Amino acid sequence: MRIILCGFGVVGQSLVKLFDSRSDDLYAKYGLKPRIVGVFDSKGSATDPSGLEFMKLVEVKKKFGTVKNYANTKNTMSGVEMIKNIEADVLIETTASNYKDAEPGMTHITTAMKKGMHVISVNKGPLALAFPSLMELATYNQVMLKFSGTVGGGTPILDYAKNSLNGERITSFAGILNGTTNYILSNMTTGLSFDESLKDAKGKGYVEADESLDLDGLDAAAKLVILANWVMGMKVTMPDINCTGIRKVTTEDIKKAAKNNSAVKLIASCNKELVVAPKEVSNNDPLCVNGTLNAIAFTSEHSGTQTIIGKGAGGIETASSILRDLLDIRQEITKN
Ligand code: HSE
Repeated sequence: MRIILCGFGVVGQSLVKLFDSRSDDLYAKYGLKPRIVGVFDSKGSATDPSGLEFMKLVEVKKKFGTVKNYANTKNTMSGVEMIKNIEADVLIETTASNYKDAEPGMTHITTAMKKGMHVISVNKGPLALAFPSLMELATYNQVMLKFSGTVGGGTPILDYAKNSLNGERITSFAGILNGTTNYILSNMTTGLSFDESLKDAKGKGYVEADESLDLDGLDAAAKLVILANWVMGMKVTMPDINCTGIRKVTTEDIKKAAKNNSAVKLIASCNKELVVAPKEVSNNDPLCVNGTLNAIAFTSEHSGTQTIIGKGAGGIETASSILRDLLDIRQEITKN
């Protein structure tokens, strides 16, 4: 399967390492032979129609900070040029999420779909700002658009709701969808102030380069948009979310919750309204997970409430979600 990889940060590199370490097993078990024919980062590109060497890409990136030194002649082809000019079956979009105009991911995804490529995106920006129109574009061009890793990282939250609960009517859901704010709030139960806890989270490398994405609830809101569209069939985008972050949560709020045998969590919920806001959750509720964990409780008409818990971020975890999507695409293609 010929792949163009957009972005070569933590997730992109984890994916390439996964392909390298699992190549025999992926072929033997699933008949999957991933061939990366092009990859680009913010400084340049590497291309080879017969497939780039996985570990050489990682080594070149480590040494030069870009993949453009992969070949002897530095490759400065832009991402869009690559998508337009190189033949591939699947585009994997891993550039950073941006909730202002969703670029550059939006252009990568739309250009690829118009050219007939299937798309896997772990970039939330395009889906958060234009989910309904991107799905239409995928249908129009008869391609698959997959985005398993956008919610829950490696934890298959979207697949669970869409496929495992097939036939059910999900009436509402509520979840902790941002690991960083969960870490900060969990840490505040030990008596740390918001600022101290934020500093600790930054030291551990959890906080996004633009901290507002985590702290003001934008990341959780983007995930809520994706869930609402995909699971509930709503046609909504970011401005439809009533969003409050955690900056105003004080140690007093945390202590007050503890007296009620509860904890303050940043909850993204869909129940008549779409809301992201800090809320008290009982310590006995399975949703009340700590640290960087994510959790989501789906309430369905017949089967009641079920909670799924897991790691919501991380390079290798998110790479595993891309592999899931890739295997789904391969299975669909080989059916026809
Ligand atoms: N900043 C996000 C989080 C990363 O903390 O959950 C995964 O989307």
